[in-house]
Amino acid sequence: MFQRDALRSDLERAGCAVARTRHAAISSLKGESPGSQTVWHGTGDRHNLESGILCGVELFEAIQRRRSVRAFAPQAVEAEKVTRILKAANAAPSAGNLQGYEIYRITPGKERAALARAALNQLFIAQAPVVLVFCANPARSAAKYRERGARLYAIQDATIACAFAMLAATALGLGTVWVGAFDDAAVQKVLGTRDLLPVAILPIGYAAEEPEPTPRRSLSDLVHE
Ligand SMILES: Cc1cc2nc3c(=O)[nH]c(=O)nc-3n(C[C@H](O)[C@H](O)[C@H](O)COP(=O)(O)O)c2cc1C
Repeated sequence: MFQRDALRSDLERAGCAVARTRHAAISSLKGESPGSQTVWHGTGDRHNLESGILCGVELFEAIQRRRSVRAFAPQAVEAEKVTRILKAANAAPSAGNLQGYEIYRITPGKERAALARAALNQLFIAQAPVVLVFCANPARSAAKYRERGARLYAIQDATIACAFAMLAATALGLGTVWVGAFDDAAVQKVLGTRDLLPVAILPIGYAAEEPEPTPRRSLSDLVHE
């Protein structure tokens, strides 16, 4: 829970003028007083589908609340949410704005099971209602950046797009897990490509578990000055 003042100052710090204005307008429409509290809603609906705010405190909430989820409810993910996740990925920065990556949406059934096997039998992949595979497209980046584009930028492009998708899914109340352990060739076979390099598989769905937070290194160990 956040006090409205704290929310406002976080939004201001984040420079979210539009969100600030919209937040104030929505609060006033809802008849909330300046002292009332803003509550995180697990579904993310209030924030993202109704108010459309996705910055400042809400972004930090999503970052802190994200956990790797490896058990998914059978409940379908709303098409609107899937679109928002894909749009978030598409909004990610990329080297030279070339977007040197591709996203595959794997349909349920045979393909999904084959993908789970290709990912060293991580069977929760087959359980998730939505599965995205982010692939580097080296040729796209190489067109401008040659070897560095093919070797590095395309992978970075795919990685940051997947990270945006992951956080968007969290903000929408969905669970995800970044899957990096897979047999490249086996995933390529499922996708029907030999030119793209699979970077991450992202199963998405409503969580059927509540994982505990995992520990992190201290900033003093992590950050070097
Ligand atoms: C590059 C990368 C590869 C990962 N590969 C897998 C994987 O193959 N299977 C899996 O269950 N989790 C995988 N994870 C998730 C990590 O295990 C998880 O992020 C880490 O334990 C921290 O837990 P948290 O995500 O709940 O904070 C991967 C994460 C990253 C960033």
